[in-house]
Amino acid sequence: MKILKERIQKDGVALTDRILKVDSFINHQIDPQLMYEIGEEFAEYFKKYNITKVLTIEASGISMAVMTGLHLKVPVVFAKKHEALNLDKDLYLSKVFSFTKNKEYLIKVSKHYIDATDNVLIIDDFLANGKAAIGLADIVKQAEAKVCGIGIVIEKDFQDGGKILREQGFDVKSLAIIESLCDGNVSFK
Ligand code: G4P
Repeated sequence: MKILKERIQKDGVALTDRILKVDSFINHQIDPQLMYEIGEEFAEYFKKYNITKVLTIEASGISMAVMTGLHLKVPVVFAKKHEALNLDKDLYLSKVFSFTKNKEYLIKVSKHYIDATDNVLIIDDFLANGKAAIGLADIVKQAEAKVCGIGIVIEKDFQDGGKILREQGFDVKSLAIIESLCDGNVSFK
């Protein structure tokens, strides 16, 4: 996606050779117009699957998932990472290990919001090792629903997530694929 790659080149910062900082338009401050266009791009690609629900994980996945749901005209569900008093007791649960943070956390989705009739599109901001997407796919499986595809805003090709998900047969659509983050330079595939 040309405008996304241009924006990453302009405002993204290669913090290390593995981490790209995009705080000024995705992870802290959010550019709504860019999110709108990202949602449009995902909706155009995944419309062939008759999607009934978009599923993401809090927090950074929410903005682009909502815009995708807006374009597909379907509800958006986000998995919770944190404990919340207002969370239902009847939950799908999955464990996710974050290599970036070196810790495991539990993701939770109410059984009210995904069921066996759903065609689910998973959306997230980054694809690194793929653990978040695998955890979300596990929740869809528990609901006996179908994962129709996985939409990723920024995939890091030098980490294994994309390969693992595609080998498992998922239709993964990444809008920008980063080949390397060397010496502060961002190179796309
Ligand atoms: P994985 O799901 O692909 O295995 O990735 P991992 O656990 O390593 O990622 C953990 C968190 O770090 C996720 O956000 C993910 O989006 C983010 N992340 C991974 N690589 C990068 C990167 O290069 N740049 C940035 N900016 N983020 C990265 P999170 O902890 O769930 O945070 P948030 O969604 O609450 O913002």
